[in-house]
Amino acid sequence: MPSFSHSPVEEVKSRLDIAEVIGEYIPLKPSGPERLRARCPFHNEKTPSFMVSRDRQIFHCFGCGEGGDVISFVQKMEGLEFPDALRLLAKKANIELPSFDPKLNSERAAVLEALKLAASFYHEVLLRATTAEQARRYVSKARRLNENTVEQFQLGFAPDAWDSLTVALKKRGVTEAHLVSAGLAVRREKGEGVYDRFRNRLMFPIRDAHGSVVGFGGRAMDEKEPAKYINTPQTLVYNKSTILFGLDTAKHEIRKQKVAVIVEGYMDCISSHQAGVTNVVASSGTALTDGQVLLLKRYAPTVALAFDMDPAGETAAKRGIAVAWKEGLDVKVISLPFGKDPDECIKQDPEGWFNAIGKAQPILDFYFSRTLDSRDRTNVQHKKEAAKILLPILATVADAIEQTHYVQKLARWLNVDEHILHQKLQPPKRKAGAEEKPVPVVDRKERLSQRLIGVLQLEPSAIPQAQQLLPPEALNGQWQDLYKFVLLQYSSDHTPQAADWPQAIAQRDPSLADALAIASLAVSDLTDATPVERHREAHTVAQELARLWLGQQLRQLTVALTQAELSKDAAMVKELSNRFTTLTEQLRQL
Ligand code: UTP
Ligand code: MN
Repeated sequence: MPSFSHSPVEEVKSRLDIAEVIGEYIPLKPSGPERLRARCPFHNEKTPSFMVSRDRQIFHCFGCGEGGDVISFVQKMEGLEFPDALRLLAKKANIELPSFDPKLNSERAAVLEALKLAASFYHEVLLRATTAEQARRYVSKARRLNENTVEQFQLGFAPDAWDSLTVALKKRGVTEAHLVSAGLAVRREKGEGVYDRFRNRLMFPIRDAHGSVVGFGGRAMDEKEPAKYINTPQTLVYNKSTILFGLDTAKHEIRKQKVAVIVEGYMDCISSHQAGVTNVVASSGTALTDGQVLLLKRYAPTVALAFDMDPAGETAAKRGIAVAWKEGLDVKVISLPFGKDPDECIKQDPEGWFNAIGKAQPILDFYFSRTLDSRDRTNVQHKKEAAKILLPILATVADAIEQTHYVQKLARWLNVDEHILHQKLQPPKRKAGAEEKPVPVVDRKERLSQRLIGVLQLEPSAIPQAQQLLPPEALNGQWQDLYKFVLLQYSSDHTPQAADWPQAIAQRDPSLADALAIASLAVSDLTDATPVERHREAHTVAQELARLWLGQQLRQLTVALTQAELSKDAAMVKELSNRFTTLTEQLRQL
């Protein structure tokens, strides 16, 4: 067993160059000394904002906020847990890890192999077996799926027998234990042996994003069968909350169109692909999960949900919407013109499905029209109901501009003062629980802050200009700390040497050193800019930040003012009004 001078993690990292590893996945272009640039693989973008720093061995995307070291890159890229990513990189670096568990690897490989064999077995049966005559008719006549589609999705049929798959796969060397751990067979309760999990069912292979079969959905052929669908249970390779049916086939089109259409059922997804709308995946009948949303986020910034909006479907949709929102995705809703689901709509008239997608509504517009269209704005009871439905939804909207837009819309409909509604907006309640972890979304302010620090580091002579426009309070957290640090450097020496900053900051507060590195990556586009251009950029960025800050203060002031008015505190009203005027004036002068 090899011994390590430091931890295996450090050892692996020190033997690899992050730029080389990332370069194997995506094309990197040099962008200044020791740094490279690319289009981010974790979100959809036209202009490259994904940066790799050779000297610090980190990556950071200024578009979506993903960042980290070589191990976290591989984790995200390959969808691996830390130990698996480490193992993969150790192999690349030719390092033998101390605690290596080959059993787990071979178990995975065996399960995947069994699933692959099962998919081709079921497929062959559907295409050729005499016992599949009825299934073939069902597929082509009742479901109207053509040969291409059957081929493309490798649809199959599980014969109406207890052991046809088991027998066939055992002949190909698959053990009973692996059939069971793949979810394909079930152990008999009494006696020896196993029996097929799927019998007399139309089989839908479920693949991961890379196209490996990881499970199956099996649809009953007999409408009297109580379980319409049976699915693979949780296995070593199948976790339904991180799988989207059809993603392997749809991902390129999703990237291209920048929107993922999400339907509920396997059949909905397949019919849509057959009809020529191919940026479609199926959530498989559950509410969208965090894992599914994260997966989609790698491919597109917008999701359009074609979920059943009956009360049950609606709660599923709502949960999905909340999750997608939290991740900063744009959410749209597709309303079907006819048919109970996309599959039926397409069967009646594919045109209806194309149009419905074209008319997908932003989720908030959808909630608004559904709530308000059926209510009478002159009826006070209706007004109260409408506010009760819409305000909690508005409270979850993270973007202040978007939120204000809809608050104004609601205020107009209700014919009440906008400020009163703002006041009623409670911050979204956080429930305890693992899936409620807040996920940071890079907002404009964050981006601008990074850029400001970055440009001042490139061009310290622009510091006084920024200082004039922007007080430190206007920035948050570490950016405020860094900004103060930068201002301090200037006040103690009017020609500060930014080259010394990384070391100075590392001594003072090591946690700020990474932020400073990120800031310098944020302005790689300015490496070759002239001092005049840099000054201009510093001015624009500081001005934008000042605007955001003043806007935020004005909003807070509005709420305070309404409160003061309600409590009839005249002195306070006067004071706040004065402040309001001053701030408005400052904002105008920017
Ligand atoms: P639906 O009941 O809408 O079925 O369930 P469907 O997809 O329209 O199927 P057809 O058209 O009747 O053949 C939507 C999805 O929910 C999951 C499946 O993934 C299904 O595609 N589901 C449904 C189950 O997992 N189990 C069930 O018993 C029912
Ligand atoms: Mn259906």
